[in-house]
Amino acid sequence: MNSRDGFNSKLGIIAAAAGSAIGLGNIWKFPYMAGQFGGGAFILIYILAIILMGYPLIYCEFALGRKAKSNAVDTYGIVTQNKKWNIIGYIGVGTVFLITTFYMMITGWVIYYLWHSITGNLYTVPESVQATEYFAQFFTQMNSSMWAPLIFALIAICLTGWVNAKGIGEGVEKYSKIMMPILFIIFIILIVYSMTLDGFKEAFNFLFKPDLSAITPTVIISAIGQAFFSLSIGMGALVTYGSYISEKEDLRQLATQVSIADTIIALFAGLLIFPAVFTYNLEPTAGPSLIFISLPEVFLKMPGGRIFSILFFVLIIVAAITSMISMLEIMVTFVDERTKLSRKSVTWLIVFVVSIGGMINIAGEGPLSFIKFSGKTIFECLDYFTNNITIPLVAVLTAVVATWIWKIPNLNKELTLGGRNATKSDHFFNLLLKWVIPPTIIILMVALLLGVQA
Ligand code: TRP
Repeated sequence: MNSRDGFNSKLGIIAAAAGSAIGLGNIWKFPYMAGQFGGGAFILIYILAIILMGYPLIYCEFALGRKAKSNAVDTYGIVTQNKKWNIIGYIGVGTVFLITTFYMMITGWVIYYLWHSITGNLYTVPESVQATEYFAQFFTQMNSSMWAPLIFALIAICLTGWVNAKGIGEGVEKYSKIMMPILFIIFIILIVYSMTLDGFKEAFNFLFKPDLSAITPTVIISAIGQAFFSLSIGMGALVTYGSYISEKEDLRQLATQVSIADTIIALFAGLLIFPAVFTYNLEPTAGPSLIFISLPEVFLKMPGGRIFSILFFVLIIVAAITSMISMLEIMVTFVDERTKLSRKSVTWLIVFVVSIGGMINIAGEGPLSFIKFSGKTIFECLDYFTNNITIPLVAVLTAVVATWIWKIPNLNKELTLGGRNATKSDHFFNLLLKWVIPPTIIILMVALLLGVQA
C-alpha cells in the first residue's frame, strides 16, 4: 500500500466528481432513452429518481468513503467492522470493470466518428445512395469490423491510463479542471445554435410536456437505472472519491452540486439533439444509434454541419474520458491499496486487463456477432446486466449498510463534520434511505426479473 494522495482544491473535487458523472450516459444514452420511452414521461420519472434516490445515495456513498478513507471494497468492511460486507464492494468494482469494457468501445466509436468528420470521409455521401441508408451503412461497417474499433478504443483507454498513472492531484484533478470548462464551452455553443432551429419548440414540448399515460413499469425501471448510471451510483465510484475528500467539505452540498450539474447536462443534451432531429424529420426513437446514424444526417443537411459535427464529437470524447478516468480510478485505488505495486504499474496492468474485455465486446459486435444471449450481443448483455441487476443491488445494499448497520446517527455525524447541523431535510432523506429506497428498488428489480412488460 502506498500513502494516500488527495484532492488539492474544492474546485478540483467538483470538477472530478462532475467529470465522473457527466459522460456517455448524459450525451449518448439519456437522449436516446428519453426518445425511446416517450420523452416527457421518462424525464419526469428520471428527475424524481434523481431527487428522491440519487441525491441521498450520493451523499451516503461519499460519507462511507470519507469515513473509511479506503478503497471501494474495504470501505464496507471497515465501516461495519465486518469484512463480510466487502462483498458489496466486490460487486461494485466488478460492475465498474464490466462497464469500462464497453464504455471504451463506445468512446472508440466516437473517436472514429471524430476522425472521419475531420477528414470529411463521413460526409462524402455517394450520389446513388440515400443519406439515411448511407449513415446506417457507415455505422454497420465500422461496428462489424474488428481493427478500426479496436484501435480507437485502445486510444481512448490509453489516454485515460496516462492521466490516472499521474495520481489524484497531478492527474485526475488537474486534467478534470482543464477538460470540464472545455466541455461546458462547447456545450453552450452547440445549444445556442440548436435554439435557433425551427424544431426547437417541438423538441421542447416532446421533452418537457409529459404524457402521463406513457408511464409504465418499464419506463420507471429504465429511468431509475439511467439515473443511477448517470450519477455513477452503485459502483464504488463515489465511495472512492469520497475517501479523497477533506473533512472540511459539506458532503450534502457536494451531492447537490453533482446531481444538479449532471441533470442539467443530460437535459441540455436532449435540447441539443432533439431540435435537430425534429427540424430534419428524423425519428426520435432511433435508440443507441441516434448519435451515430441520425445526427450525422442532421449535420450533413445543416449549414456548417461539419464544424458542428467536429465540436459535438469532441464534446462527447471529453465527457467520456473524464468518466473513464473515474472508472479506472476505482480499480486503481483498490488494487494499489491491496498490493505492493506502484500506482503506475497498477494503472497499466488494469488498462491491459480492461482492454482484453474491450476486445471481447468489440468482437461481439463484429466477427463474433453470432454469439447472442436472448437476442442480445455481448455488449448489450453487459449493459442490461449491470444497469438492471448489479447497480441497483449495490445501491440497495449500500443504503441498507449505511442506515441499518452503520446507523443514521453515524451517517449524520460524518455529514455534519463541516460544522453545520443536521436539518429537517437531512432527516427526511435519511428516512428515505432507510425505509423507502431499498424496498422500492427491490420490488422493481423483481418485477423486471419476472418479466413485467409494457
Ligand atoms: N456516469 C457516467 C456517465 O454518465 C458513467 C459511469 C458509469 C461511470 N459507471 C461509472 C463513471 C463509474 C464513473 C465511474 O457516462
